Amino acid sequence: MSNDTTLVLGATGKTGRRVVARLRLGGTPVRAVSRSSPTRFDWSDPGGWDAALRGIATAYVVAPPVPGPVHEFVARAEAAGVRRLVLLSGHGADTWGDSTFGLDMRSAEDAVRGSALEWTVLRPSNFAQNFDEDVFHAPLVAGELALPADAVPEPFIDVEDVADAAAAVLTEPGRHAGRVYELTGPRALTFGEAVELISRASGRPLTYRQVSPAEYAATLVEEGLSEEDAHHVAEMFVLMERGLLAGTTDDLATVLGRAPRTFEDYVVRAAAAGAWRRPDSG
Ligand SMILES: NC(=O)c1ccc[n+]([C@@H]2O[C@H](COP(=O)([O-])OP(=O)(O)OC[C@H]3O[C@@H](n4cnc5c(N)ncnc54)[C@H](OP(=O)(O)O)[C@@H]3O)[C@@H](O)[C@H]2O)c1
Repeated sequence: MSNDTTLVLGATGKTGRRVVARLRLGGTPVRAVSRSSPTRFDWSDPGGWDAALRGIATAYVVAPPVPGPVHEFVARAEAAGVRRLVLLSGHGADTWGDSTFGLDMRSAEDAVRGSALEWTVLRPSNFAQNFDEDVFHAPLVAGELALPADAVPEPFIDVEDVADAAAAVLTEPGRHAGRVYELTGPRALTFGEAVELISRASGRPLTYRQVSPAEYAATLVEEGLSEEDAHHVAEMFVLMERGLLAGTTDDLATVLGRAPRTFEDYVVRAAAAGAWRRPDSG
C-alpha cells in the first residue's frame, strides 16, 4: 500500500461499498474495512485501528451508532499521519436538538471538525435505498409499510449520488476543506407518495399506513430491536414531522456540477432488479 491510500470504513454498507468501487475504478488505492474485512476494523475494538490506519492519507468515516469512539479514532488518525477526513453524518444534524440522534451525530461531527486535519462533512437526507436495502424493505415485500409519518415530505437521496459526492470529495484535496454539505434529492415526497410510486413500478398493490410513534416502536421491538433502539428510531420520525428537514438543497450540484437523481429513477432501477417481488412469485 502506498501512503496515499484511502481508508473506507463501513465498506460493506450501502454507501461504503459504492464508494470503494468508484475509488478503485478511478485508480485510487483503497483499504476497504469493516468487521468482516481481511484488515478487520471494529469500532468496539480499538486494538485493531492502528493497522487499518497505517499508510492512510484520507479516510471515509462511517460512524458507529453511538459515536463515542470517534474522538479516539480521530486522535489515532492524526498520530498515524492521516491528512484528510470525510465524515458521513445526517441531514440537518444541528437541528436534531437533544434527541439521541442529534447528540450522536453532533458528537461524531465535533470529533472530525475539531481535528487538525482537513475535513469535510456529508449530511445526506434519508436514503432512497432504505426502501430496498434496509428497514423499509421487508414490510414492502409483505405488502404494507406503516410509519409514524404523514404529510411532511422527505427529500430522499439516491445512495448512488451520496457515493458520487463522497468519491469526489475524497479525491479532490483542498476543494472541500471545512465544508458541510447538506445532500438531498431534487424534490421531497411523502412516504405515502414514495410507496405509491414503488407500487406502480413493481406492479403490486402496496399500501402505506400512518401509525403513531408508540405503535411503530412496538412493532420494531416485535421485530427484535431493543426498547431503547426502537424508541430512538421512532423519535427520528417525530423530529422529521417538525418539517425542518423537508427542504431540498443545491449542495449535491455544488459538489458534482449536476442535479441529483430522481426518486423515480431509483424506483425503476430497483423494480427492474426485482427488489419488491413477492417472495413466492418465482
Ligand atoms: N439510512 C439513511 O437513510 C441514512 C441517511 C443519512 C445518514 N445515514 C448515516 O449513514 C450511516 C450508515 O452508513 P451506510 O448506510 O453506508 O451503512 P450501512 O448500510 O448501515 O452498513 C453499516 C456498515 O458499517 C459496518 N459496521 C457495522 N458495525 C460496525 C462496527 N461495530 N465496527 C465497524 N464497522 C461496523 C458494517 O459492516 P460489517 O457488518 O461488515 O462490520 C457496514 O459496512 C449511519 O451513520 C447513518 O446515520 C443514513
